[in-house]
Amino acid sequence: MKVLVLGGAGYIGSHTVYYLIDKGCDVVIVDNLQTGHEWAVHKDAKFYKGDIRDRAFMDFVFEKETDIDVVIHFAACSLVGESMVDPLKYYDNNLCGTKVLLESMVAHNVKKIVFSSTAATYGEPENIPILESDRTLPTNTYGETKLSMEKMFKWVDVAHGVKYVSLRYFNACGAHETEDIGEAHNPETHLIPIILQVANGTREKIMMFGNDYDTKDGTCVRDYIHVTDLAQAHMLAAKYLMDGNDSNIFNLGNGVGFTVKEVVECARKVTGKEIPAEVAERRAGDPAVLVASSEKARSILGWEPKYASLEKIISTAWRWHEAHKTFEK
Ligand code: UFG
Repeated sequence: MKVLVLGGAGYIGSHTVYYLIDKGCDVVIVDNLQTGHEWAVHKDAKFYKGDIRDRAFMDFVFEKETDIDVVIHFAACSLVGESMVDPLKYYDNNLCGTKVLLESMVAHNVKKIVFSSTAATYGEPENIPILESDRTLPTNTYGETKLSMEKMFKWVDVAHGVKYVSLRYFNACGAHETEDIGEAHNPETHLIPIILQVANGTREKIMMFGNDYDTKDGTCVRDYIHVTDLAQAHMLAAKYLMDGNDSNIFNLGNGVGFTVKEVVECARKVTGKEIPAEVAERRAGDPAVLVASSEKARSILGWEPKYASLEKIISTAWRWHEAHKTFEK
């Protein structure tokens, strides 16, 4: 299978590229390196540096790489907090970028795409665990743009027969077993890497955003899922489309929720470090509880997450943060 991975130098994108190459796929990467890293580009993948909003560039890639079976699309902005202060950046990169990509795919007769969506499409959930059929009412611009992208795919499928799988991830975390790649955002805003930066001495303390939510200890509950398990789901989704199946949407999570305090506690146990923590104001746009039902992905895609425990997930991330301290300074 020949796969074009957009955003293949980013966190989830690079782990998916490693997984695909490990399983024998032929991989082409497109990344503008705005948030992705050159060091995360797999040496056995073909790499084009450029932006999906650039139609001429995308046409060039599809003309050079004539036999792409499936596109996997990670090339998007993905920070909840940033999306609340700079919404138009999200509309531009996420929606306009996907529009240009789809125009180019349709023009080059590429008809299959797997796409990173998010739990943020649900907003404040009505039920826990969340099903794919539940209400979608995003509470932040990031989730809104991802939901709009899903709708764009739906209508492009109706008009042009481009089949899609939308994967709604919950909280991606962890690092590759080889320690070659891991989570490295700049600036870092995600809970687990920030906690581990405190543990490895590159940050002083962790601020816990809000302790007055309606949860067991007042801090937000999230469903943490290992990035290699997400990678596995992308491969399965690509195969699902290659088998001629129809467009579909799947949640990807472990189905277990942990509070921010529990994550800090678990990281203390894994690292053996003190990890000072303080309570701060709530962060805008944060729902109290997000936990997935991933039964649909398990039964239809045959997805089987391998990193079920938070301790195991944090251990892989800790190995990465220990090895890359200097990089984080
Ligand atoms: N948090 C803190 N302190 C920090 C950072 C985060 O308390 O320094 C809290 C947040 O308020 C939240 C939880 O830790 O309650 C997790 O926050 P992250 O920033 O790690 O992740 P989010 O839940 O905000 O977002 C992630 C992805 C999104 C995705 C969402 C869906 O980054 O792309 O999960 O659940 F939409």
